[in-house]
Amino acid sequence: MDLGLKGKRAIICASSKGLGRACAMALAEAGCEVVINGRDAATLEATAKAIAEATGAHVIPIAADVGTPEGRKALLAALPEVDILVNNNGGPPPKDFRQLSHADMVAGVESNMITPIELIQGVIDGMVARKFGRIINITSGSVKMPLPQLDLSSGARAGLTAFVAGVARQVAGSNVTINSILPGAFLTDRLRTIAAGAAKAQGTTADAVLAARTKTIPAGRLGDPQEFGQLCAYLASAQAGYITSQNFLIDGGTFPGAF
Ligand SMILES: NC(=O)c1ccc[n+]([C@@H]2O[C@H](COP(=O)([O-])OP(=O)(O)OC[C@H]3O[C@@H](n4cnc5c(N)ncnc54)[C@H](OP(=O)(O)O)[C@@H]3O)[C@@H](O)[C@H]2O)c1
Repeated sequence: MDLGLKGKRAIICASSKGLGRACAMALAEAGCEVVINGRDAATLEATAKAIAEATGAHVIPIAADVGTPEGRKALLAALPEVDILVNNNGGPPPKDFRQLSHADMVAGVESNMITPIELIQGVIDGMVARKFGRIINITSGSVKMPLPQLDLSSGARAGLTAFVAGVARQVAGSNVTINSILPGAFLTDRLRTIAAGAAKAQGTTADAVLAARTKTIPAGRLGDPQEFGQLCAYLASAQAGYITSQNFLIDGGTFPGAF
Protein backbone atom coordinates (compact mmCIF):
# COMPACT_ATOMS: atom_id res chain seq x y z
CA MET A 1 0.00 0.00 0.00
CA ASP A 2 1.30 3.47 -0.84
CA LEU A 3 1.06 5.38 2.44
CA GLY A 4 1.19 8.77 0.73
CA LEU A 5 4.38 9.68 2.59
CA LYS A 6 6.85 10.21 -0.27
CA GLY A 7 8.91 13.33 0.44
CA LYS A 8 7.45 13.86 3.93
CA ARG A 9 9.88 14.87 6.65
CA ALA A 10 9.95 12.97 9.93
CA ILE A 11 11.71 13.34 13.27
CA ILE A 12 11.90 10.11 15.23
CA CYS A 13 13.24 10.69 18.72
CA ALA A 14 15.35 8.08 20.53
CA SER A 15 15.64 5.94 17.42
CA SER A 16 19.14 4.50 17.18
CA LYS A 17 17.79 1.20 18.58
CA GLY A 18 14.63 -0.68 19.41
CA LEU A 19 11.12 0.59 18.74
CA GLY A 20 12.24 4.06 17.64
CA ARG A 21 14.62 2.57 15.12
CA ALA A 22 11.86 0.34 13.75
CA CYS A 23 9.61 3.40 13.31
CA ALA A 24 12.40 5.25 11.48
CA MET A 25 13.01 2.25 9.21
CA ALA A 26 9.31 1.93 8.33
CA LEU A 27 8.91 5.66 7.67
CA ALA A 28 12.06 5.66 5.51
CA GLU A 29 10.68 2.66 3.58
CA ALA A 30 7.48 4.65 3.01
CA GLY A 31 9.49 7.45 1.37
CA CYS A 32 10.16 9.88 4.23
CA GLU A 33 13.29 11.84 4.91
CA VAL A 34 14.10 10.86 8.50
CA VAL A 35 15.90 12.50 11.39
CA ILE A 36 17.07 9.84 13.81
CA ASN A 37 18.42 10.35 17.30
CA GLY A 38 20.27 8.76 20.20
CA ARG A 39 23.00 9.73 22.66
CA ASP A 40 25.61 7.22 21.58
CA ALA A 41 27.05 8.64 18.35
CA ALA A 42 28.59 5.37 17.09
CA THR A 43 25.34 3.40 17.42
CA LEU A 44 23.43 6.26 15.82
CA GLU A 45 25.81 6.46 12.83
CA ALA A 46 25.57 2.69 12.29
CA THR A 47 21.76 2.90 12.34
CA ALA A 48 21.75 5.86 9.94
CA LYS A 49 23.89 3.87 7.53
CA ALA A 50 21.69 0.77 7.85
CA ILE A 51 18.46 2.71 7.20
CA ALA A 52 19.93 4.63 4.26
CA GLU A 53 21.29 1.42 2.69
CA ALA A 54 18.05 -0.50 3.20
CA THR A 55 15.69 2.21 1.93
CA GLY A 56 17.65 4.78 -0.08
CA ALA A 57 16.18 7.47 2.18
CA HIS A 58 17.96 10.64 3.26
CA VAL A 59 18.79 10.02 6.93
CA ILE A 60 19.96 12.80 9.26
CA PRO A 61 21.49 11.55 12.52
CA ILE A 62 21.33 13.92 15.49
CA ALA A 63 23.41 12.72 18.43
CA ALA A 64 21.75 14.40 21.41
CA ASP A 65 19.86 13.80 24.63
CA VAL A 66 16.20 14.45 23.73
CA GLY A 67 15.54 15.12 27.41
CA THR A 68 17.57 18.35 27.33
CA PRO A 69 16.54 21.72 25.85
CA GLU A 70 19.69 21.69 23.67
CA GLY A 71 18.86 18.20 22.40
CA ARG A 72 15.31 19.19 21.45
CA LYS A 73 16.59 22.37 19.78
CA ALA A 74 19.06 20.35 17.69
CA LEU A 75 16.33 17.93 16.62
CA LEU A 76 13.91 20.68 15.63
CA ALA A 77 16.64 22.52 13.72
CA ALA A 78 17.49 19.46 11.62
CA LEU A 79 14.57 19.96 9.20
CA PRO A 80 13.02 23.15 7.85
CA GLU A 81 9.48 21.77 8.07
CA VAL A 82 8.36 18.74 10.06
CA ASP A 83 5.43 16.63 8.83
CA ILE A 84 5.75 13.72 11.26
CA LEU A 85 6.99 13.64 14.85
CA VAL A 86 7.50 10.36 16.66
CA ASN A 87 7.99 11.03 20.35
CA ASN A 88 10.11 8.48 22.15
CA ASN A 89 12.56 8.46 25.02
CA GLY A 90 14.13 6.03 27.43
CA GLY A 91 11.79 4.99 30.22
CA PRO A 92 12.51 5.45 33.93
CA PRO A 93 14.41 2.50 35.41
CA PRO A 94 12.22 -0.02 37.29
CA LYS A 95 11.99 0.82 41.01
CA ASP A 96 9.69 0.11 43.94
CA PHE A 97 7.43 3.16 44.27
CA ARG A 98 8.48 3.54 47.92
CA GLN A 99 12.08 4.07 46.87
CA LEU A 100 11.40 6.84 44.34
CA SER A 101 13.04 10.12 45.40
CA HIS A 102 11.58 13.51 44.56
CA ALA A 103 14.35 13.91 41.97
CA ASP A 104 13.49 10.51 40.41
CA MET A 105 9.86 11.57 40.03
CA VAL A 106 10.69 14.94 38.49
CA ALA A 107 13.08 13.22 36.06
CA GLY A 108 10.41 10.68 35.06
CA VAL A 109 7.82 13.37 34.37
CA GLU A 110 10.43 15.43 32.48
CA SER A 111 11.46 12.57 30.23
CA ASN A 112 8.11 10.90 29.51
CA MET A 113 5.65 13.81 29.70
CA ILE A 114 7.29 17.23 29.41
CA THR A 115 9.84 16.34 26.71
CA PRO A 116 7.23 15.08 24.21
CA ILE A 117 4.94 18.02 24.98
CA GLU A 118 7.73 20.53 24.30
CA LEU A 119 8.52 18.84 20.99
CA ILE A 120 4.84 18.96 20.05
CA GLN A 121 4.83 22.68 20.86
CA GLY A 122 7.84 23.06 18.53
CA VAL A 123 6.23 21.45 15.46
CA ILE A 124 2.49 21.85 15.71
CA ASP A 125 1.90 25.35 14.37
CA GLY A 126 3.82 24.58 11.17
CA MET A 127 1.78 21.39 10.73
CA VAL A 128 -1.47 23.33 11.19
CA ALA A 129 -0.37 25.98 8.69
CA ARG A 130 0.54 23.32 6.08
CA LYS A 131 -2.63 21.27 6.78
CA PHE A 132 -0.72 18.05 7.39
CA GLY A 133 0.75 16.69 10.57
CA ARG A 134 1.10 13.32 12.25
CA ILE A 135 2.30 13.03 15.83
CA ILE A 136 2.81 9.58 17.30
CA ASN A 137 3.81 9.09 20.91
CA ILE A 138 5.43 5.85 21.97
CA THR A 139 4.03 5.27 25.45
CA SER A 140 3.49 1.86 27.05
CA GLY A 141 0.94 -0.86 27.61
CA SER A 142 1.52 -0.08 31.30
CA VAL A 143 -0.63 3.06 30.85
CA LYS A 144 -3.63 0.69 30.64
CA MET A 145 -2.28 -2.27 32.56
CA PRO A 146 0.16 -1.22 35.27
CA LEU A 147 3.29 -3.26 35.84
CA PRO A 148 4.99 -3.47 39.24
CA GLN A 149 8.14 -1.32 39.52
CA LEU A 150 7.10 0.79 36.52
CA ASP A 151 4.64 3.09 38.32
CA LEU A 152 6.55 6.25 37.43
CA SER A 153 6.72 5.27 33.77
CA SER A 154 2.98 4.48 33.74
CA GLY A 155 2.03 7.69 35.54
CA ALA A 156 4.11 10.10 33.47
CA ARG A 157 2.91 8.51 30.21
CA ALA A 158 -0.71 8.59 31.37
CA GLY A 159 -0.20 12.32 32.02
CA LEU A 160 1.03 12.76 28.44
CA THR A 161 -1.94 10.76 27.14
CA ALA A 162 -4.45 12.99 28.92
CA PHE A 163 -2.64 16.16 27.88
CA VAL A 164 -2.61 15.34 24.16
CA ALA A 165 -6.24 14.21 24.21
CA GLY A 166 -7.19 17.88 24.59
CA VAL A 167 -4.58 19.14 22.14
CA ALA A 168 -5.66 16.65 19.45
CA ARG A 169 -9.15 18.14 19.28
CA GLN A 170 -7.72 21.63 18.82
CA VAL A 171 -5.76 20.69 15.69
CA ALA A 172 -7.89 17.91 14.14
CA GLY A 173 -9.58 20.38 11.78
CA SER A 174 -6.20 21.09 10.17
CA ASN A 175 -5.47 17.44 9.28
CA VAL A 176 -3.07 17.16 12.21
CA THR A 177 -3.48 13.97 14.24
CA ILE A 178 -2.00 12.87 17.54
CA ASN A 179 -2.05 9.21 18.51
CA SER A 180 -0.13 6.96 20.86
CA ILE A 181 1.14 3.42 20.45
CA LEU A 182 1.27 1.34 23.64
CA PRO A 183 3.81 -1.48 23.36
CA GLY A 184 3.47 -4.68 25.31
CA ALA A 185 6.63 -6.80 25.47
CA PHE A 186 8.91 -6.26 22.45
CA LEU A 187 12.31 -7.88 22.21
CA THR A 188 14.61 -4.86 22.43
CA ASP A 189 17.62 -3.92 24.55
CA ARG A 190 15.32 -2.30 27.12
CA LEU A 191 13.37 -5.52 27.63
CA ARG A 192 16.62 -7.50 27.88
CA THR A 193 17.94 -5.04 30.50
CA ILE A 194 14.73 -5.22 32.54
CA ALA A 195 14.83 -9.02 32.33
CA ALA A 196 18.46 -9.07 33.48
CA GLY A 197 17.58 -6.87 36.49
CA ALA A 198 14.63 -9.09 37.43
CA ALA A 199 16.77 -12.20 36.99
CA LYS A 200 19.34 -10.84 39.45
CA ALA A 201 16.64 -10.10 42.02
CA GLN A 202 15.03 -13.54 41.57
CA GLY A 203 18.26 -15.52 41.39
CA THR A 204 17.51 -16.81 37.90
CA THR A 205 18.55 -16.04 34.31
CA ALA A 206 17.30 -13.33 31.95
CA ASP A 207 16.22 -16.07 29.50
CA ALA A 208 14.09 -17.66 32.24
CA VAL A 209 12.49 -14.28 33.03
CA LEU A 210 11.72 -13.69 29.34
CA ALA A 211 10.32 -17.22 28.97
CA ALA A 212 8.01 -16.64 31.97
CA ARG A 213 6.88 -13.30 30.50
CA THR A 214 6.22 -14.94 27.14
CA LYS A 215 3.89 -17.45 28.85
CA THR A 216 1.66 -14.51 29.92
CA ILE A 217 1.21 -13.36 26.29
CA PRO A 218 -1.71 -15.01 24.45
CA ALA A 219 0.20 -14.73 21.14
CA GLY A 220 2.84 -16.98 22.73
CA ARG A 221 5.76 -14.77 21.72
CA LEU A 222 7.43 -11.42 22.26
CA GLY A 223 6.75 -8.61 19.79
CA ASP A 224 9.03 -7.97 16.82
CA PRO A 225 9.98 -4.25 16.63
CA GLN A 226 9.29 -4.32 12.87
CA GLU A 227 5.58 -4.93 13.60
CA PHE A 228 5.61 -1.86 15.81
CA GLY A 229 7.31 0.31 13.17
CA GLN A 230 4.77 -0.64 10.54
CA LEU A 231 1.86 0.43 12.78
CA CYS A 232 3.67 3.73 13.32
CA ALA A 233 4.03 4.25 9.56
CA TYR A 234 0.32 3.56 9.04
CA LEU A 235 -0.66 6.10 11.71
CA ALA A 236 1.60 8.60 9.94
CA SER A 237 0.04 7.86 6.56
CA ALA A 238 -2.19 10.07 4.45
CA GLN A 239 -4.95 7.44 4.88
CA ALA A 240 -4.95 7.76 8.70
CA GLY A 241 -6.13 11.37 8.76
CA TYR A 242 -9.47 10.48 10.41
CA ILE A 243 -7.80 8.69 13.34
CA THR A 244 -6.85 10.95 16.21
CA SER A 245 -6.43 10.85 19.99
CA GLN A 246 -6.39 7.06 20.00
CA ASN A 247 -4.23 4.71 22.02
CA PHE A 248 -3.19 1.58 20.17
CA LEU A 249 -2.16 -1.38 22.26
CA ILE A 250 0.16 -3.74 20.40
CA ASP A 251 0.71 -6.53 22.88
CA GLY A 252 -0.19 -9.94 21.42
CA GLY A 253 -3.45 -9.98 23.40
CA THR A 254 -1.90 -9.38 26.84
CA PHE A 255 -4.38 -6.71 27.97
CA PRO A 256 -7.34 -8.82 29.10
CA GLY A 257 -10.24 -6.43 28.42
CA ALA A 258 -12.62 -6.22 25.47
CA PHE A 259 -12.21 -2.43 25.20
N1 LIG B 1 10.45 -2.88 24.51
C1 LIG B 1 9.36 -2.99 25.22
O1 LIG B 1 8.90 -4.12 25.44
C2 LIG B 1 8.64 -1.79 25.76
C3 LIG B 1 7.42 -2.00 26.42
C4 LIG B 1 6.75 -0.90 26.93
C5 LIG B 1 7.28 0.37 26.78
N2 LIG B 1 8.47 0.53 26.13
C6 LIG B 1 8.97 1.91 26.01
O2 LIG B 1 9.24 2.22 24.65
C7 LIG B 1 10.35 3.11 24.58
C8 LIG B 1 11.41 2.53 23.65
O3 LIG B 1 11.86 1.31 24.23
P1 LIG B 1 12.86 0.31 23.48
O4 LIG B 1 12.49 -1.03 23.99
O5 LIG B 1 12.88 0.58 22.02
O6 LIG B 1 14.26 0.75 24.15
P2 LIG B 1 15.76 0.48 23.65
O7 LIG B 1 15.84 -0.73 22.79
O8 LIG B 1 16.57 0.52 24.91
O9 LIG B 1 16.10 1.74 22.74
C9 LIG B 1 16.05 3.02 23.28
C10 LIG B 1 16.54 4.01 22.25
O10 LIG B 1 16.35 5.33 22.76
C11 LIG B 1 17.58 6.03 22.78
N3 LIG B 1 17.55 6.92 23.93
C12 LIG B 1 17.34 6.59 25.22
N4 LIG B 1 17.37 7.68 25.99
C13 LIG B 1 17.59 8.73 25.15
C14 LIG B 1 17.73 10.12 25.35
N5 LIG B 1 17.65 10.67 26.57
N6 LIG B 1 17.94 10.93 24.27
C15 LIG B 1 18.01 10.38 23.03
N7 LIG B 1 17.90 9.08 22.80
C16 LIG B 1 17.70 8.25 23.84
C17 LIG B 1 18.63 4.93 22.87
O11 LIG B 1 19.91 5.36 22.41
P3 LIG B 1 21.04 5.91 23.43
O12 LIG B 1 20.99 5.02 24.65
O13 LIG B 1 22.33 5.84 22.66
O14 LIG B 1 20.65 7.32 23.74
C18 LIG B 1 18.02 3.90 21.94
O15 LIG B 1 18.22 4.25 20.59
C19 LIG B 1 10.84 3.32 26.02
O16 LIG B 1 10.29 4.48 26.56
C20 LIG B 1 10.29 2.10 26.73
O17 LIG B 1 10.11 2.31 28.11
C21 LIG B 1 9.15 -0.50 25.61
